[in-house]
Amino acid sequence: MKLSLFFVLTVLAGAGFSDVILEENFDSAEISKSAVINGRNDFSVLSGSLDYSWIKETGSRLQHKGNKVDAVWDVDIEPYRENSKTIYVSFLLKNLNEDVKNSFAGLGFYNNDTELFGIGNDFESEYFKYYSPGSSNIIGKAPTLVDGEVHLIVARIEFVEGSKDKFTIWLDPLVRRDLSDQNEWKTARGEFEFDFNQLRLRAGNEGNKWEFDELKVASDWDSLFKMNNSPGGKVSRAIKNADLPGISEKLDRGVNRFYAKYADLEEIPFSFAVSKEFNNVKRLKKSPDLQPVFSKANGRKYVYFDTPSHDDFYGTGEVQGALRRNGCRIILYNKDNYNYNDPDNLYQSHPWVMGVRPDGTAYGIIFDTTWKSEIDLRAGILFSAPEDAADFPVYTLEAESPSRLMEMLGGISGKMPMPPRWALGYQQCRYSYYPDSRVREIARGFRQRQIPCDVIWLDIHYMDEYRIFTFDPERFPNPKGLNDYLHAKGFKSVWMIDPAPKYEEGYSVYDSGSEIDAWVKNKDGEDYVGKVWPGKTVFPDYTIPRVRKWWAGLYQDFLDEGIDGVWNDMNEPAVFEEPEKTMPSDNLHRGGGKLKQGKHIQYHNVYGYLMIKATREGMLQYAPDKRPFVLSRANFLGGQKYGATWTGDNGSTWAHLEQSIPMSLNLSLSGQPFNGPDIGGFVGDASPQLFAHWMSVGAYYPFSRAHTMVGSKDHEPWSFGEETLKASRSALNKRYRLMPYLYTLFWNSHKNGNAVMKPVFFADPADKSLRDEDQAFMLGDNLLVVPKWAEDVNLPEGIFRNLQIGQNERWDKYQCKLLQKGGSIIPVGEKVQSTEELGLLNPLTLSIVLDENGMASGRLYEDSGNGYEFKEDKFIVSNFKAQRTEGGIKVTCEKQNGEFAYDKRFVKIAWITKDGISFGYGDICKSVEVMKTDNFEYIK
Ligand code: GLC
Repeated sequence: MKLSLFFVLTVLAGAGFSDVILEENFDSAEISKSAVINGRNDFSVLSGSLDYSWIKETGSRLQHKGNKVDAVWDVDIEPYRENSKTIYVSFLLKNLNEDVKNSFAGLGFYNNDTELFGIGNDFESEYFKYYSPGSSNIIGKAPTLVDGEVHLIVARIEFVEGSKDKFTIWLDPLVRRDLSDQNEWKTARGEFEFDFNQLRLRAGNEGNKWEFDELKVASDWDSLFKMNNSPGGKVSRAIKNADLPGISEKLDRGVNRFYAKYADLEEIPFSFAVSKEFNNVKRLKKSPDLQPVFSKANGRKYVYFDTPSHDDFYGTGEVQGALRRNGCRIILYNKDNYNYNDPDNLYQSHPWVMGVRPDGTAYGIIFDTTWKSEIDLRAGILFSAPEDAADFPVYTLEAESPSRLMEMLGGISGKMPMPPRWALGYQQCRYSYYPDSRVREIARGFRQRQIPCDVIWLDIHYMDEYRIFTFDPERFPNPKGLNDYLHAKGFKSVWMIDPAPKYEEGYSVYDSGSEIDAWVKNKDGEDYVGKVWPGKTVFPDYTIPRVRKWWAGLYQDFLDEGIDGVWNDMNEPAVFEEPEKTMPSDNLHRGGGKLKQGKHIQYHNVYGYLMIKATREGMLQYAPDKRPFVLSRANFLGGQKYGATWTGDNGSTWAHLEQSIPMSLNLSLSGQPFNGPDIGGFVGDASPQLFAHWMSVGAYYPFSRAHTMVGSKDHEPWSFGEETLKASRSALNKRYRLMPYLYTLFWNSHKNGNAVMKPVFFADPADKSLRDEDQAFMLGDNLLVVPKWAEDVNLPEGIFRNLQIGQNERWDKYQCKLLQKGGSIIPVGEKVQSTEELGLLNPLTLSIVLDENGMASGRLYEDSGNGYEFKEDKFIVSNFKAQRTEGGIKVTCEKQNGEFAYDKRFVKIAWITKDGISFGYGDICKSVEVMKTDNFEYIK
């Protein structure tokens, strides 16, 4: 970056340089008193602003040219922490004019006079850009329009002194208006050599074109925001007069719970997020490192964690934007968010933040409230709810790794029940397939073209004028017959049920609900009537136990039609023509059992959660021997116990394809392993290429279903021409062949709460370079999936080998790259058209990649694919092991558990090395030896 340095004004940290008037309107002393900011405020805060009056008054040597000032401000950066130094800067520009747009301004970091790197605006637009060390390489940009003509840039710059000297720039998203821009807000990172004693910040401009209207430098956001003219001020408001917890408890190893001093313990509501009972609760004797402070201000209750700025945040539920959540603000209020038009909230809420430290250790925080609330990750972790929200506890979890943290979360918030195996197959949906002959045609379409598929979905057009639990007599005169047809062809069917029945006397669901006074009331105590698909509707109050029982009962006749799974949609609940697209927040829920009466603002986020809990109970009552499958659009932390979720009405766009990966990952990191987006995108028409790419990635989502909206073009894998069809078939064949691995992952997740789909950094949590990677992802711990379109992916170090299942044809430019981790054995099955064809002793291939020590191990879980006999030992867990021998490997089945253990099983071995694949064959109950031949390129 070039700066013309006409003039240098030096401010020595804390030294009260006489020529300079520092702004005194921030107060670091106050912060230190509140014991909130550990270690930040022992750094002298520097701030000041450049403006005409100040310049005139000081009579400093700043030069004034025309009506422009050319200034360079030079600041010493004092070390204030042992291993990292962070400064916060903002510069503000009012009345941006053409002249300015064409000019350049920036902040530069210098070792004495040698420039290290800089931040600046670019030459021709209103964007500020970030420059990497010593070059003009642009590494990020940000729109800066704040209010009308005011342009501001706020950044946090952290220097880490270590084996390599690094800096990182975070852009403060306070100025961000549109979160969908988030991908553009890349963090700048770099490495350079610097000497703390010499490090200087210089702010200035080039060509005498413009001045900063304001420049601020501070040691924390709070000081920055407290200064005049700054936007935000949120953190400072929140932690002003904040208190340490009133009660701090140790619940379990690594699990603590905190209550505010003001908390009324008698009034703490039932917890939806925390289902574990803790029997050995002790008071904490010492303050833990991870400790909240609590405050009430401006009509809100705040909880704040002053986490170190080098920690990375994840989780926070179903969210748009990048995987790493630092700098984001999330509103927790489930929202029917068509096409993701609103950046702030989606269909589900998870008051949960996962933090990962530079050394790879992890922590998690549960803010245990269902109220409408907000997570703000712009400076530490700030959570807030309205002041009239009931008091709530805050849980902290400490773990040695992110994976372990997920297991702890599962232990506390509940684990996914084992799904039926068919739910792991590919699924085809549209809004809507009708009449029934069209559904049959779709089913035949898959089998004729040999595209594997397990489930066909029935959207609202099967209903009789959108009345839930009814069938259109013309379009679907014989639902049972249709289901029999599908079953005979190896398909299952999932049918939609929305929460809100039509408000209509004489309609059995309305009548039976009214009889038990089932409906949510408005603030005057009358039945609330809203508008959804059928027109006027009422809304079951699922907080009332008798209503959940009634709701569960409605599924008896419905499932009698041979329906296999239930799709609960619109359960935020979505209400048309209401300002927030939901019912008024002062509607009344009457509760019962452990739930107290409360307003909708309290129960909104768990409306869907309670609905699917009741649906699941209904399914279990109907068929106690079957594993229910419920898909829900809305949910809440802990709701993984009742249903899988999909990510609602995305669009058929490249951006939403890319977005689907971090979205599914963060949802997975929020305790919901069984999730996925609408493949192909819901809103609009996918292009053949987009659909092919989306299917190629979609084959690896935990929940894999294509769906599209009413009126769009056909979105079946064959609707886009031969190339897309073949790409889809190839991708789905790979999913089905990986089914033994996938099913084992789901079983793991069911047992220990871990995610199925994981971010790449899980492979090496201490490698900071992986923390932002959100194009590639992992399935379990042993398989890396790299989409074809991914660019500049950061992959873990160590052995990873190409796992190619089936031949990739030359024309196929869509398939993801699969990389198998060294030291692993991945079970691969044969090609099938539906999971029904997967018998227990299907021919099995063991794909093996050795680690540095010539060893590998892997596990396979098998059971009947449905029902609960697996709980009575009717399963097999095979633990395989491979070891290098002279010129080859030896593979054994070390140990088997479960009643279905076998004493003979012929397997194929595919041993992948850097040179190719060597095959072997034999009875794994003895041992199979494979010699290195490397003749093959892929697993047939
Ligand atoms: C909602 C759902 C969508 C469904 C449609 C009609 O928009 O999100 O998946 O197709 O309603 O039921």
